[in-house]
Amino acid sequence: MKSIQDFAAKKERKEKISMVTCYDAWSARIVAQTDIDTVLIGDSLSMVMHGHPTTLNASVNLMALHTAAVARVLNNKFIVGDLPFLSYRMDLTSNVKAAGQIMKAGAHALKLEGAKGNLELIRHLVDSGVPIMGHLGLTPQSVFQLGGFKVQGKEHLHQMAIKKQAKDLEAAGCFAVVLECVPASLAKEISASIEIPTIGIGAGPDCDGQVLVLQDMLGMSDDFSPKFLKKYMDGHRLIKEALNTYHSEVVSAKFPTAKESY
Ligand code: KIV
Repeated sequence: MKSIQDFAAKKERKEKISMVTCYDAWSARIVAQTDIDTVLIGDSLSMVMHGHPTTLNASVNLMALHTAAVARVLNNKFIVGDLPFLSYRMDLTSNVKAAGQIMKAGAHALKLEGAKGNLELIRHLVDSGVPIMGHLGLTPQSVFQLGGFKVQGKEHLHQMAIKKQAKDLEAAGCFAVVLECVPASLAKEISASIEIPTIGIGAGPDCDGQVLVLQDMLGMSDDFSPKFLKKYMDGHRLIKEALNTYHSEVVSAKFPTAKESY
C-alpha cells in the first residue's frame, strides 16, 4: 500500500489491512521484503526500544529520529508516524511544527490519540495536506487518566461515546482509525458504521485491519502475553539460544574457525 486511497480501496473491496510497528532500519529492511501493507512508527517505541514504563516519554525529536531511520530503508510501504504525548495539545503553531517535523522525517501520515479537543487540529492538518489516522479506545497516552492499560468501552454509555468519537474523526477527515482494546462487538459496530477503515488491536476480528507491535508478535518478550496478542515466533527463546550458542563456541574456541578467518 502506498497511499490513503489504498486504505479506502481495501475497505471498499472488503480486503483486510495488515499493519505492524517498525522503529528502526534493521527491522524495516525485513518488513520491506514482506507482504505487510503498512507500518506504524508507534510511540510504543518509548517502551519497547527505550525501556520506559509508558509511551509518555516519547518526544517529537525521538519520533522523528526513528521515523527517519525507517523511511531511509522502507520505500515500498505506507508509513504512519505517531504524534507523541502532548505534542499536539499546544497552540496551533507548535502542533503544526510537531506534525511537520515527523512528516519531514519521512512519515506519509500521522496518528494521534483521541477525538475530544483534537477535531479542529485534525481538520487543519488534513486541509494542510497531512493525512491523519485516529486512535480510540485504549489510548496509551492517557494511561494515568484511564487508570491503567485496560479494555475500554465495556459500559453502554462509554460505547456510545466511542462510537460518536469514531464518527467525529471520520467527519474531521481522518483516513482510518485505530481501535485499541475495545470489545469485539463494539469494534464490529463501529467498523460497519463508518466508511473509513478501522485498524484493530485487541478489538476482535471484524475490524478492517489489524496492527500489532512487531516485537510482540515475534515473541521477543517472555513476560508480555496479553489476551489479544498472538505470537508468530518464539523470538525470545530463539535469540537467547543463538546468543548462548555463540558464547559457548567463543569460550570453547569453536568459533571462529579457518572458515571465518582471513
Ligand atoms: O504506539 C503504538 O504502537 C500504537 C499501536 C499499538 C496502535 O499506537
